[in-house]
Amino acid sequence: MSQGLVTVTYIGATILFILSLGGLNHQETAQRGNIYGMVGMVAAILATVFSGAINTPSAHILLIIAMAIGTIIGIKLAQEVKMTQMPELVAILHSFVGLAAVLVGYVNLIAPEIEITGVEKTIHSVEIYLGVLIGAITFSGSIIAFGKLSGRIDGKPLLLPARHGLNLGLVILMIWLGKAFVVSQATGSGLLFLLLMTVIALGFGVHMVMTIGGADMPVVISMLNSYSGWAAAATGFMLANDLLIVTGALVGSSGAILSYIMCRAMNRNFISVIMGGFGTGSGDTLTPLTTSSGKVIAISAEESAQLLKVAKSVVIIPGYGMAVAHAQHTVYEITKLLREQNIKVRFAIHPVAGRMPGHMNVLLAEAKVPYDIVLEMDEINQDFPSTEVAIVIGANDIVNPSAQEDPNSPIGGMPVLEAWKAKTAIVLKRSMAAGYAGIDNPLFYKENTRMLFGDAKESLGAVLSYLHKSP
Ligand code: TAP
Repeated sequence: MSQGLVTVTYIGATILFILSLGGLNHQETAQRGNIYGMVGMVAAILATVFSGAINTPSAHILLIIAMAIGTIIGIKLAQEVKMTQMPELVAILHSFVGLAAVLVGYVNLIAPEIEITGVEKTIHSVEIYLGVLIGAITFSGSIIAFGKLSGRIDGKPLLLPARHGLNLGLVILMIWLGKAFVVSQATGSGLLFLLLMTVIALGFGVHMVMTIGGADMPVVISMLNSYSGWAAAATGFMLANDLLIVTGALVGSSGAILSYIMCRAMNRNFISVIMGGFGTGSGDTLTPLTTSSGKVIAISAEESAQLLKVAKSVVIIPGYGMAVAHAQHTVYEITKLLREQNIKVRFAIHPVAGRMPGHMNVLLAEAKVPYDIVLEMDEINQDFPSTEVAIVIGANDIVNPSAQEDPNSPIGGMPVLEAWKAKTAIVLKRSMAAGYAGIDNPLFYKENTRMLFGDAKESLGAVLSYLHKSP
């Protein structure tokens, strides 16, 4: 393949990646966005493989074997992974990008393809150092995030004394090692400094994510997504591959924007997230709340159906429990039935509902819920006082009033869906257990709240059959 054709294909792939990101912005265009991304990636891989950079038969054979193994693992994972396990899958995939950046950095140092000298060598040394640094932090941070999300590592934040001082000390040490590496690379003797920095960066990544409490993990995932993008961009600089630089920058900046949006949604400080060592909100400490001593009023499926039938407006708030119960299709059946009876039904989506960004939107889209009745938190929160029934389906933290009422709560300050302002709030869950943040929820004890206990799919199935019985 001529160099010109490779460049044209790379530009085409870049445009497809940008179109893909644009498409993923809206549910209506998300599928198209995915297709653009896939076509762009296939074109990028083909152009790279046939660019002439890989020029021996044995290299081609190795590449085909590696790609075949990767493809088989990828297809198997994609088929088997449950929706609720997606964040941990994403975390482990980020770790691969980090590891690749580290390995490419070392290969570039130990076995450079071309000999360079002077300023060029200095610039290349900086590229190697930054690539390995970002890659190592991304790698170890993502492994810890994977461990926390999959329950293999305790979700509680690790709060070492003077942890901010420790972080600062490590950063200063890594900057000093960077200078020493670049200077000694002039004579080709920088390996030891790079090794030392790699060990410190791995430790830094571990510490950074270990300090983060359970409820703050979503921000960490999108932040590591951004880091993995920058690690890929750094790899692109090391390999002088323009497409990798652009693609890495796209992932890095879109991940950073997503982190910023999620920080705002969870009322966290963006800068302190980037610096690590934030979010000491505990994952599972039970904050004593005076309201929790109140009485809980249970409701039956039949009574719930009656309330829905006479309501004029209903807002459905889906949460993680809806995903666990796979209740989205039954939710849609109920929605359809109510809408046929001219009842206004809308969905209220919290930005961190579920376990990954857009989790609820994906499930509702899968169940064919029309997009125009699925509203973001900011679009619907003011409508709760004029709503007759708010149905909370397997959601907990995102409807917890203590986020507004108790500044000491681990979720204190996080914007929440104000379900308690509806005339009646029906909460579907199996027990009085806490949600992800591990805290009690005063909503359950409010006078206008009714608890419909049981698995969300079964409860909604019963509600649906009562709705059918008495139209
Ligand atoms: P949670 O606060 O985790 O509450 C989910 C509730 O669903 C639980 O209280 C549970 O109560 C109930 N539940 C579980 N299985 C159920 C079933 N089969 N049927 C009925 N109910 C069931 O969820 P949320 O309100 O969606 O809040 C999300 C939380 O996850 C936030 O704290 C957020 O920070 C965190 N988080 C979010 C993300 C992203 S990016 N979205 C990533 C990681 C963490 P029972 O056990 O009593 O049934």
